Amino acid sequence: MAPEPAVSVCFVCLGNICRSPTAEGVMKHLIGRHGLSDRVQVESAGTAGYHSGELPDRRSRAAARARGLSLESRARQFTAADFERFDYVLAMDAENLGHLLALAPDAAARAKVRLFSAFDPASPPGAPVPDPYHGGPEGFERVLDLCEAACEGLLAHLRREHPL
Ligand code: 4NP
Repeated sequence: MAPEPAVSVCFVCLGNICRSPTAEGVMKHLIGRHGLSDRVQVESAGTAGYHSGELPDRRSRAAARARGLSLESRARQFTAADFERFDYVLAMDAENLGHLLALAPDAAARAKVRLFSAFDPASPPGAPVPDPYHGGPEGFERVLDLCEAACEGLLAHLRREHPL
């Protein structure tokens, strides 16, 4: 029998078609390389539901594919019930963070919400993963770069804090 996940993470952006599915794909790839796929549950969601059911944006998928990552999640909206399912709820920017804190039913839920970039030692405090949706291809590369750096820091944090 597969071991129970020891810890669960949900990445959250606005639409759940660019940044958070990229973070999900990067984190799943990373924990797979470390043999931890059964120990860390990883999902993503959006604060908005406009794109529910869609695959990630084709520009995100193409940029990820060029780095050997396959993004296959389907967009969904984050709900208050998700606070019961996840230990870490990681926002891509301050706006997402504010929406999540407003949705959180209690202090325990609020304590799960962090800015994703806080796990990247090279990101200044409060730094966003900038929304690439209305920009050019370099924005999608930047999202991948930031996700790779923050996921490395997140994995190091999870290893320190949880029995993985
Ligand atoms: P995401 O990017 O929040 O990284 O998934 C966006 C996707 C869609 C929209 C905005 C941002 N939109 O306005 O539809």
